Parts: sequence; C-alpha cells; structure tokens
Amino acid sequence: MANRDPYWMSLALQLATRGRGFVEPNPMVGCVVVEKDELLSSGYHHYFGGPHAEVDALSKCDPKRLADSTVYVTLEPCSHFGKTPPCVDLLLRLRPKRVVVAMQDPFSEVSGRGIQALRLQSIEVDVGVLGAQAQELNAPYLKRLAKGIPWVTAKWAMTLDGAIATRDQDSKWISNELSRGIVHQLRSGMDAVIVGIGTAIADDPLLTTRLPDGTRPARIATRVVVDRECRLSPTSMLVSSIAEGPVLVACSERAEPERVRNLRSSGCEVLMIPEPEVVSSLEFTLRELGSRRYTNVLLEGGGTLLGHAFDRELIDQVHCFVAAKLAGGAKAMRPLAGVGKSLMREATELDNTTIETLGDNVHIQGIVRRVAARD
Ligand SMILES: NC(=O)c1ccc[n+]([C@@H]2O[C@H](COP(=O)([O-])OP(=O)(O)OC[C@H]3O[C@@H](n4cnc5c(N)ncnc54)[C@H](OP(=O)(O)O)[C@@H]3O)[C@@H](O)[C@H]2O)c1
Ligand SMILES: [Zn+2]
Repeated sequence: MANRDPYWMSLALQLATRGRGFVEPNPMVGCVVVEKDELLSSGYHHYFGGPHAEVDALSKCDPKRLADSTVYVTLEPCSHFGKTPPCVDLLLRLRPKRVVVAMQDPFSEVSGRGIQALRLQSIEVDVGVLGAQAQELNAPYLKRLAKGIPWVTAKWAMTLDGAIATRDQDSKWISNELSRGIVHQLRSGMDAVIVGIGTAIADDPLLTTRLPDGTRPARIATRVVVDRECRLSPTSMLVSSIAEGPVLVACSERAEPERVRNLRSSGCEVLMIPEPEVVSSLEFTLRELGSRRYTNVLLEGGGTLLGHAFDRELIDQVHCFVAAKLAGGAKAMRPLAGVGKSLMREATELDNTTIETLGDNVHIQGIVRRVAARD
C-alpha cells in the first residue's frame, strides 16, 4: 500500500487550523488516531488553556484498539507541565504502536524531549511528515519563539492607481463592504491592531472588531497607536471606546507629561519609549508586544508607518484590497511611503498568494519572501 502518512497528517493539519485565533499564544495542533488505515478518532487544540490535541483525540478512542494504532500529531507532543499535564505521559500510558510527528517543537521546555521520551520507552516515532506545511501553519508561533516579536500582517486598501488616501488625506471609504467585512474577520484573530498617529488623527478610527450578526470575536485585539509625541486626543473614538477594548499608546519618554497623564486617566495604557529607541518606536513596540506573548498583530497604516515597517523588513504577510477607483494626484498617500527599493529586481515577492474578487474589489494576500530564501 502507498505511504498513507501524508494523507493522515494533512487531515491532522486541517483540524489544527480550527484553533486559529483561539489557541494563541499556544501553537495550533491537530491529531488523528488511525488503526489499519481506519480513522479511530481525531482532535485538535481548541482554545488556550484547554486540552491539547492528543488528549482531545485519544479521549474519544477505545483504548483497547490503540495497541496497533498510529497517532499523527502536527507538533511534537509536550513533555512539560504547562496549563495541562504532559501529553507524552498520556501516550506512554496508552502505548500506541507508532507516533508520527510533523515537526519538533522548538519551545525550550520541549525541543526534542517529547520525541526522545517516547523512543526511550520503545514507541516508534517518525518525525518530519509534512514538516514544511506544519512550519507554515504555525509560522507566527515559531517567529515569536525565535525572534521575540509577533507575526506582522500589513493591511491596506487602495485605489487602482495605488492611493490609500486622496491628496487631502481622505480615505473613507476606498474598499467596499465585503472587503471591510474581511478586515473585521482578520482583526478577530489578532492580539493587536496597530496604527500610526497620522492615521489616528486623520481617520479617527475605532479599530474594534465588528463581526456580522454580533458574533463574538475569538479575541479582543489591543488597539495600539505609535505616537511619539503623545498627540492622541482623549476625545478620539479610540479613547472614547476604551470599554470595548484596551488602547495602548507608545510614546517617547520625552512626550508632554500632561498629555500622558490625560490618556492614562482616560483608561489608556501609555508605553514609554526610552529616548535612544525612539527612532525605532515600532520595533520597540513590537518587542514589548512579543514579551507579552502576542503572536499576531495587524499593521493597518498609514503609509508612513507601513513604509517604515517595509523598509525595516518587519512585515511578514500582506492583505491588500484594491478598489476599482482612481484617486489621482502625485501627492496622494501611497501604502508603503518609506524609502522603498531602488531596483525592480529587488522588489519583495510574495509566496502562497491568494487572490479573490469581492464585487468590484480584489483582495490579494501573500507571505513576504525573505531575501535570504530568494535563490
Ligand atoms: N487606505 C488605507 O488602508 C489606509 C489605512 C490607514 C491610513 N490611511 C490613510 O493614511 C493617512 C495617514 O498616513 P500617515 O502616513 O500620515 O500616518 P501614519 O503612518 O498613520 O502615522 C505616521 C506617524 O508615525 C510616526 N512616525 C514617523 N516615522 C516613524 C518611524 N520611523 N517609526 C515610527 N513612527 C514613525 C510619526 O508620528 P510621530 O513622530 O509623532 O510618532 C508620523 O506622524 C491618512 O490619510 C489615512 O486616511 C489609509
Ligand atoms: Zn500537550
């Protein structure tokens, strides 16, 4: 019979995605239990603090049938006590014949120990089946562990001629309702939504997540404003809606103390950026969010902040909404209004792109290809 490992692992990977937005800062994990090419049970990690995928799958399965079974799991089983007991202990108790793991967990408390513990007790373990897909699935989790900063998704809406606002900074609305609905879905899985003070002043946005039919979002994103001089108005929509979700303002330690006090007394958290770090205020903010175990953030503009993020290679993924409209004007704001590239052959390419038509808008999504991986 053909090697069925990739088939069963791809099922486990699909199941894992159901936890997206609910499990972070944990990774998404799926698990299937198979005996003689028959599915015995399946499961996934549903929400942060809840049972791990292995527990979910194995609890639904007749233990008597496990002796000849294979357990497929998209990430190395944990070997440490976190919010729940180690999955390795459960596997050692139930003793399936074989465990197939898509990838090792780089988390320092696990990092190979789970695999080793199973092998030491003579359970056959294979590692690396659909490993690349498993890495892709949990790219935000892996990035946070490796670099200490969240996965940065940049989002903007633009006219067909590449304007994110008119020459007078007007931008309401460029995209249609279908596109804006997708933006709310995107926000619903984010730990933070970030804008520059230029956008907070020009648009006075709410940046809350509003899903159709009042559906509750998977998580409430912290609304972050990069605002070195602390210019955000206490009467802005962001501050006035503090009851709907936290607001974090990142400003220089040299900002006017009165403004800082006013925002704090309105319920905002103010993050003080030490003077030498102020030129990299976005990077500083991202490191702070990473230390809070934020996994996914949505960078929503404007052009200056997005341009800065692009030039510093801080963007991991892009969602762009293109409207069949023309704004014209050399002074209209562009989405990545930083320094940019000198040569077209240096232009950043996107991988795993998806393109969908939403009425008279086109939604293009892709993962930023890093230069090192280019040839
Ligand atoms: N269509 C869309 O999707 C969309 C989305 C968002 C915004 N917009 C439009 O974009 C326009 C606003 O864009 P914008 O470029 O003026 O504002 P912005 O990017 O929101 O904010 C720019 C601010 O960021 C700060 N900044 C500058 N350089 C920085 C750096 N290197 N690192 C960190 N922060 C830095 C500066 O303020 P401080 O020095 O005071 O910190 C600057 O005022 C508005 O017209 C808005 O309507 C469109
Ligand atoms: Zn576990």
